[in-house]
Amino acid sequence: MREGAQPAADRLRATRISTPALRAPALRAIVLGAAAGGGFPQWNCRCPVCALAWDGDPRVRPRTQSSLAVTADGRDFLLLNASPDLGAQIRATPALQPRRDAGPRDSPIRAVVLTNGDVDHIAGLLTLREKAPLALFATAETRAAVTANPLFAVLDPALVSWTEIVPGRPFEPLPGLAVEAFAVPGKVPLYLEGDAVEIGTETGSTIGLSITAGGVRLAYVPGCAAVTPALVRRLSGADALLFDGTVYADGEMLTAGVGTKTGRRMGHLPVGGPDGSLALLAAVAVGRRVFVHVNNTNPMLVEGSPERRAVEAAGWTVAEDGTEIALPARTAGEDASWPSPPDISTLPPSPPPAPSPTASSSTSPTTGR
Ligand code: MLT
Ligand code: MN
Ligand code: ZN
Repeated sequence: MREGAQPAADRLRATRISTPALRAPALRAIVLGAAAGGGFPQWNCRCPVCALAWDGDPRVRPRTQSSLAVTADGRDFLLLNASPDLGAQIRATPALQPRRDAGPRDSPIRAVVLTNGDVDHIAGLLTLREKAPLALFATAETRAAVTANPLFAVLDPALVSWTEIVPGRPFEPLPGLAVEAFAVPGKVPLYLEGDAVEIGTETGSTIGLSITAGGVRLAYVPGCAAVTPALVRRLSGADALLFDGTVYADGEMLTAGVGTKTGRRMGHLPVGGPDGSLALLAAVAVGRRVFVHVNNTNPMLVEGSPERRAVEAAGWTVAEDGTEIALPARTAGEDASWPSPPDISTLPPSPPPAPSPTASSSTSPTTGR
């Protein structure tokens, strides 16, 4: 639990993922919000997983909507997406608060990179409207989606700049922090969907990011409809991978009775199953594997659930708000290859879930799928 956090977030626990601190981190990432759109629990939802959160079950922790903060120097920060919960995220994160030595108006947040135009990734721009200099980076598609809405004209063009991201062309949103975007199979934002929406197109509507500083690399892919050979090549060798963990089972929103869309229809491949991200990324060598953008229906949010055990057995962690990833600089000649994760096919089956004090077995998040 971090200083300055909201009382409602009392049960949030920040986790720290880092190699031994022999060197100052070259790249530090703070998960500001680990949940998908709607957050966890979602305001109007009593699906089996949200029910646990509303009822205070200690196996689940609330999470705010999707965003990451990264820094190379520990002083200036780049946001990867701007969550509707950004205000609360800043209040919970001392590193993002106005600094003591910087006068009456200040923010360590200097720039924002958008990976798509979804509401959970752009609404926080409105929180950043208070006449502060800010550099925004987005593809032409995402910028057009945002600026088509007159509400975003509150971002004063005298202070807020837009720079177009072209996939494959590196840029430096902050000194010492190099970013390269790559197109990821996705779709247009929900509010731009027409009658026939194409899923899995590789346009500028959905991008992944490769962030490099001090010779270490973090890959951030909060939305992904499919794992392609090109994506596997992009992710291979990253020191940390933060990947789309929206749904565990493609049909879990239907099973829970809270929606009519599959994960794939929303542009998110599932985590589980033979064609899910756990299986498709198993052979990709990366340093750390962390699921972000987790939907409130996803049973891997429940500690000890079979789904949580399965992702942990495969070498993944499920991000929480406040999870930090500190990557020490790699010196010249140091090996950057990563061992493959454990072979999950040889692991014993997960034990049955612990009985839930709040949910009957028919509504348990770990059953009925
Ligand atoms: C998504 O990730 O699919 C979107 O955030 C959905 C939405 O716009 O609510
Ligand atoms: Mn989203
Ligand atoms: Zn829910």
